Amino acid sequence: MPSPTVGVEAGYDRWAATYDAVANRTRDAASAQVLDWRPLLAGKAVLEIGCGTGRNTAVIAPAAREVDAVDISQGMLAEAARRPECAEVRFVRADITRPLPLASARYEVVLESLALEHLPGVLGIFREAFRVLRPGGELLGCELHPYRQLLGKQARFEDADGEEVLIEAYGHSISEFANAGVQAGFGIVELQERADPSGEPRLFSFRFRRPLAG
Ligand SMILES: C[S@@+](CC[C@H](N)C(=O)[O-])C[C@H]1O[C@@H](n2cnc3c(N)ncnc32)[C@H](O)[C@@H]1O
Repeated sequence: MPSPTVGVEAGYDRWAATYDAVANRTRDAASAQVLDWRPLLAGKAVLEIGCGTGRNTAVIAPAAREVDAVDISQGMLAEAARRPECAEVRFVRADITRPLPLASARYEVVLESLALEHLPGVLGIFREAFRVLRPGGELLGCELHPYRQLLGKQARFEDADGEEVLIEAYGHSISEFANAGVQAGFGIVELQERADPSGEPRLFSFRFRRPLAG
């Protein structure tokens, strides 16, 4: 019988307590990518979207000047708020498919990891990221590689009774990310693909910049 699929908010509320504890190579690869980006965040005002349990928030908060972090799941946010490194972080419950309840031109970096696979399209959040970034600010994102999505991989967890549960997800191609970034007004600084030691692609990441003028 196929595994059931649940909505994003309900799914992550159910996964929150075990998200950090279970083995998850994609989650760990994304954390390695965020660690690589940490120098780009040092001393900056940062917005993290889809922060989840705050595993990356806790890494960037000590380096950044200030961090605001958004997620739709109250369960994930509650885990994040428990982390001592996040004591100064302002957590906001918000749906990133809708206009963000945040001021324009407020941040120097917007960061996301593994959240956009849950959005039917990425143009809306890219436009919002552009709006809340200052001119010259950067959007840094990493996602499950489209190759893996085409193999049928997506966010999933094991429920308390051992049943596998899938969380609503959508495939996005690299050209979709790149074209939506450009359409939102960004310049592309870098696109990267990270592979496992076997050579199979694992992550796709992008670094976009809001131009100084515009
Ligand atoms: C796979 S987790 C990634 C969490 C964290 N960024 C990480 O890398 O460990 C995806 C997160 O995105 C959040 N998310 C997904 N869709 C969202 C939406 N529409 N609005 C806000 N958060 C969303 C989920 O609640 C979840 O916490």
